[in-house]
Amino acid sequence: MKGVILAGGLGTRLYPLTHATNKHLLPVYDKPMIYYPIQTLVKAGIKEILIVVSGPHSGHFIHVLKNGKEFGIDHVEFAYQEKPNGGIADALALAEDFADHDSITTILGDNTTDADISTAVRSFKKGALIFLKEVPDPQRFGIARFAEGNPKTIVEIIEKPKSPPSKMAVTGLYIYDYQVFDFIKKCDPGFAGRNELEITEVNNFYIKANQLTWAPLKGYWLDAGTFDSLFLANAYWAKKRNPKLSRDL
Ligand code: G1P
Repeated sequence: MKGVILAGGLGTRLYPLTHATNKHLLPVYDKPMIYYPIQTLVKAGIKEILIVVSGPHSGHFIHVLKNGKEFGIDHVEFAYQEKPNGGIADALALAEDFADHDSITTILGDNTTDADISTAVRSFKKGALIFLKEVPDPQRFGIARFAEGNPKTIVEIIEKPKSPPSKMAVTGLYIYDYQVFDFIKKCDPGFAGRNELEITEVNNFYIKANQLTWAPLKGYWLDAGTFDSLFLANAYWAKKRNPKLSRDL
């Protein structure tokens, strides 16, 4: 299985930090943020990775990641998203040739997790597999609505719901078969009112086709796209790597 890391966007929620560099290169304790999704993929046995970048600091990635050998990557490619605010699905569309009709594991470049997804990657056959995590602030995420009386079945995913139907957030880790690229072509930029091609609409296409399954993400997970979540991600990884810091944090 190949992997795709989506590391584009302007990171406007993190201005002025992201005037200096791309969000995904900001520090999370002792590493640039993008090291974390790279490690998640490599730990899952994924050694061929496409990184989609965009925005004014795209050139910074090559200085940091070089040819990926330091991370145990056999092959790294970069793609450039023309519209930095085109959305996650717009960025993923650039992976079509790279995927070459195969399935792909996709991870958002600002998601840090210590979960091990290698079994899910190895056993994936078809459709889409998404990973959910219970969160205290469901208005901030894509949120699953489950079938009445059957929490195993997701009937809809709602992006940034005002009245969340559950607290189960769709994390930024997804495994898709080749159909994902056809679904992206059907996406409507008005879907969630952000003028972006939304990954949540893609996931809803899989739901309608009865081809979406989900698994709980076991372990720590946080996206680091806001000041507060970036701070919390820093605190988590700092304490994990250096337990002595716990008393001060
Ligand atoms: C994106 C997705 C959302 C998902 C989140 C996870 O949100 O649209 O469904 O729950 O990533 O990090 P965004 O970062 O675009 O606000």
